[in-house]
Parts: sequence; structure tokens; C-alpha cells
Amino acid sequence: MISAVFLTHTAAPSGAELATLRLLTALARDGRVRASVLLTADGPLVALLEARDIPVTVWRNDFDSRSLTIAGSGPLRLLGGARDLMRLGRGLGAEVSAAGADVVVAQSTKALLMGAIAARRAGVPLVWQVHDRIAADYFGGPLAFGLRVLGWLAVRGVVANSRSTLRTLFTPGRRAVVAYPGLEPGRAVEREAQRAPDAVRIVMVGRLTPWKGQDVLLRALPLLRHRPAAVTLVGGAFFDEEEFGDRLRALAAELDVPVEFAGHVDDPTDHFAAADIAVHASVTPEPFGQVVVEAMRAGCAVIAADAGGPTEIVRDGRDGVLVTPGAPAALAAALDRLIADPALRARLAESGRARAADFGIEETARVVTGLLATVLRRDADSTAVPR
Ligand code: GLC
Repeated sequence: MISAVFLTHTAAPSGAELATLRLLTALARDGRVRASVLLTADGPLVALLEARDIPVTVWRNDFDSRSLTIAGSGPLRLLGGARDLMRLGRGLGAEVSAAGADVVVAQSTKALLMGAIAARRAGVPLVWQVHDRIAADYFGGPLAFGLRVLGWLAVRGVVANSRSTLRTLFTPGRRAVVAYPGLEPGRAVEREAQRAPDAVRIVMVGRLTPWKGQDVLLRALPLLRHRPAAVTLVGGAFFDEEEFGDRLRALAAELDVPVEFAGHVDDPTDHFAAADIAVHASVTPEPFGQVVVEAMRAGCAVIAADAGGPTEIVRDGRDGVLVTPGAPAALAAALDRLIADPALRARLAESGRARAADFGIEETARVVTGLLATVLRRDADSTAVPR
């Protein structure tokens, strides 16, 4: 049995953390990896883990992770934040040793920095489960470069949430796999057939943050020939981004488009089941895009931004439609085509449902278990070699 500590710096229930929650649940069911979670912040994730009997420890500390935000941190601030994270990592190393872990799995870039120190202290290998594309368009050039180099130096293995994410990393000499964040076997979804053009309901699910591109959908709405009956934005603002939600509300009012803001939910299935068309519109390439699979599984006709993870999920014109990211006119054209044609929507939705079944969490757990086993075997091998 492999004992793994999953390390993360946030307990917000955002996409990466919810994906990890499902992975840990599947690992526990499978039984080959005994996983626990080490968190450096308290929050809703803690109760979600506890409800699933996953051991979790919150490591109390006074580090303010906002001092290390990607946008607008000057080099000095970044260095200061990095120093704090490394200090935190030393304490965490003791915790990892006490837990008797064989391996540390870092869940974020901040966890990578802390984990590098913690794993070294505890004398165990570090694996980086990467949920973000480590690219200039997301982190800025210098930071992206630094993180790639750090990742390469510090880790023995990498788990990327898509091929697109993997392509942004340096991995020579490292074990690297793609483990798509799978879904759990879901309950059967009750839904209506695709509605007539004048009754179409549109939903968009995602954290309210500028790169998710909710504003692209809002700007597409006035361009439509066919006005939908309802548009719902599902998602909360985390990580101090509340201000973007206010901007979206102001934009909706200014464009005079009736949009309902439904807030955050842990499971968006019911929102998808109530909609005909689901829109994904991220303006920077989406690393994976769990909402795309969730929407397909719930029987929506999906329109997704043609970049990153969604291009590995959606076969354009078959399981959904891919559109140029950040272009309200392109999104409006796709929406008009789908709204006008319920038969097309039904076809896309049917094929999308079948495609969604390719993304199961058991497969994710199988790939992650394989990677951990390989990393540890290699570790065992290298200590077996006489020096
Ligand atoms: C992050 C990514 C998202 C992905 C999720 C799970 O939230 O932004 O694309 O689906 O992690 O790996």
C-alpha cells in the first residue's frame, strides 16, 4: 500500500479542489493508495473531505497566500512570498514524516514550493499534480518560466490534467502522465427534450473570474437573432475576485440582457439538466474544463472555447461546437445556429453524452496510482544501488 499526502494551499471548493476530492474518494475505494490531505488554509473543502471520510489536517499558519497572487505581484513581493512558503514547507516536512508518507503530491503551484521543501525534509519524493497550464498567458512569462524550472528540479513525477497542460511543462527525465479529471458515476438525470427556439435556456458554469470569459457570453447576447428564454450564470467568486462579479452584473444591466446569477454550487448537474445549451467561453486556454464534461453528461448541447482541454474533450461538430475564444460574434453565430435547430442540438447532446462516459474518475485513479507506483519503484531502485 502506498501512503500519499496530498498538499494544497487552498480549501476553496473550486474546480481543482473538487477534482481532487473525487480522485481521493476513488483512491480510497480502490484501496491501493492510502491518501490524506494536508491543507495550509481552512475552508469549505475541509467539510467536504470529512464527509467522505478522507483524513485531512489543516496546518495553521499566518501566511497570507494572497501575497503571492499571479497578477500584479512585483518581484520583491514574489520573493517574500516564496520565502514564507518555504518556511511553511519546513514545518510541513515534519508533518509528512509523522504521517509516515511515502510520497507528497502537490496540488498547486504554491503547494509545489512548500512541497519541495517538505518532501526533501521528510526524505520522500514529490509529485506535482498540475491543474493549471504553466504558461505566460496565465502566469506571465518570467513566473511561468520559474515555475517550470522549479517543477522540473523539484519533482520526480508529474500528473497533468490534459495534454494541453502537459505541453506547458518541462519533463525531461521525469515520469509524466495525463490523468483527465474524471466524473463520478452520476445519478440519472431527468431532463426535457431540446426546447423550441423561442424557449431555449442557456447556462454557463464557472468561477466568476476574468479568464473564464462570462463577459464574452454577455456581449454575444445582444448580437443574437434568436433571443433565448433564459440565461443563467452559475458560479461564485473566490480568491478575492468578488469585484469581477459586480462588473458582470453592471455589464448585464448596461447591455440590457436578462441574466440570472445563481451563485456557487458544488454540483451543477441540476443547472445543466434545466438548460438546452451550455456555454464555455474561457479567454485563456482552459487547462481541462470539467464543466464541459459535466454539461455533456447532463445532456446539454455544448459550445466551448476552441483552446486547451476542451479541444481534447469535444470533437467539433460531433459532441459539441468549438468556437474562437474571446470573440462574442463567433459565439453569437454558433448560438444562433444551435438555437434555430433543435434537431442539431439533440444530435450534439446525444453524442456528447456518450463522449462524457469516456471521462470517469476510476480511470483517473488508475493512472495516478500507476504514476505513484512507478515513482516509488524508481525511488526504491535508486536506494538499492550501492553508492
Ligand atoms: C483547474 C483548471 C480546470 C480543470 C480543473 C481540474 O481548475 O482551471 O480547467 O478542469 O483544475 O483539474
